Amino acid sequence: MGEEATLAGRPLPPGPLGETVKLGAMLVEQTATHLLTKAYVGNRLNCTSCHLDNGMHGAAATFLGVATAYPAWAPREGRVITLEDRILNCFMRSENGVRPPLGSRPSVAIAAYITWLSEGQPLRMNAERSLGPNAVAPLKAGAAQADARSGAVLYADRCAYCHGEDGQGDDDSPPVWGAESYNDGAGLARVPKLAAWLKVAMPPDEADLTEQESLDLAAFVNSHQRPRFRLEDHLPKPDRMGEYNSRRDP
Ligand code: HEC
Ligand code: HEC
Repeated sequence: MGEEATLAGRPLPPGPLGETVKLGAMLVEQTATHLLTKAYVGNRLNCTSCHLDNGMHGAAATFLGVATAYPAWAPREGRVITLEDRILNCFMRSENGVRPPLGSRPSVAIAAYITWLSEGQPLRMNAERSLGPNAVAPLKAGAAQADARSGAVLYADRCAYCHGEDGQGDDDSPPVWGAESYNDGAGLARVPKLAAWLKVAMPPDEADLTEQESLDLAAFVNSHQRPRFRLEDHLPKPDRMGEYNSRRDP
């Protein structure tokens, strides 16, 4: 018997399944540059740019426990969707790219990785929304209370040294607005969603923003231009499509 293979300290399944989980982890980390995924990505973001620590950060859009919620009801799509569908939809919006075909290698590998991160946890299919049990909690305050001008001051002080005055980031930090960032159909394009995520995620390793600061920053970041989401631009050619999991345009 050889030694049991592990990833991030967790045991991997033996054989091709374990290899597929490992491939999925790599694709989540190198989405924008990996040969298997870069054709489906339209910006400089990797999944781990938002799903911090490759989805293993406990709070920032974590992948831990996510697979237990699927199949789930997706209000946006007006359908029950699978985990694979959910992953592919993130390519169209957060990654501003094209939906990889269902059942393709990247799609299956990422689904295998995310499912592996829920191993041993009880299934609790979500009948209300397509989110796992540890999803980012919404803030109490609403977008109406956000002040983008105060967000600009905070951004210069707390964010610009990594993401740049111009929001374009650098080799270590991803762009937060402009052509290389998430499009306006992404979850983070909504101020309350971005604020809730910022509160638990940024700055990395010292996320200490107050609710008000998070809202102000979210309003400032999302006041800049980013790609427009038009569904037609993000679907693959019909013969590669399979059935798209929506019965109406979002
Ligand atoms: C621009 C940021 C961003 C990027 C990049 C991104 N996502 Fe997401 N994703 C989110 C947010 C925000 C949510 C909602 C999570 C929440 O509310 O806790 C989400 C939700 C999800 C969910 C559902 C989680 C759940 O709790 O059910 C999956 C699965 C997912 N993303 C996969 C991916 C994959 C795979 C990639 C890369 C191909 C990716 N995402 C890229 C921001 C992003
Ligand atoms: C120390 C550097 C650093 C600081 C400071 C920082 N970030 Fe980030 N930020 C990152 C990195 C790195 C990522 C991607 C995470 C990863 O790849 O592990 C990221 C991801 C993001 C994302 C999601 C991906 C994207 O590009 O859209 C947003 C939005 C964001 N940061 C906003 C902010 C805001 C607002 C602040 C100020 C409170 C901030 N960050 C402070 C380094 C930083």
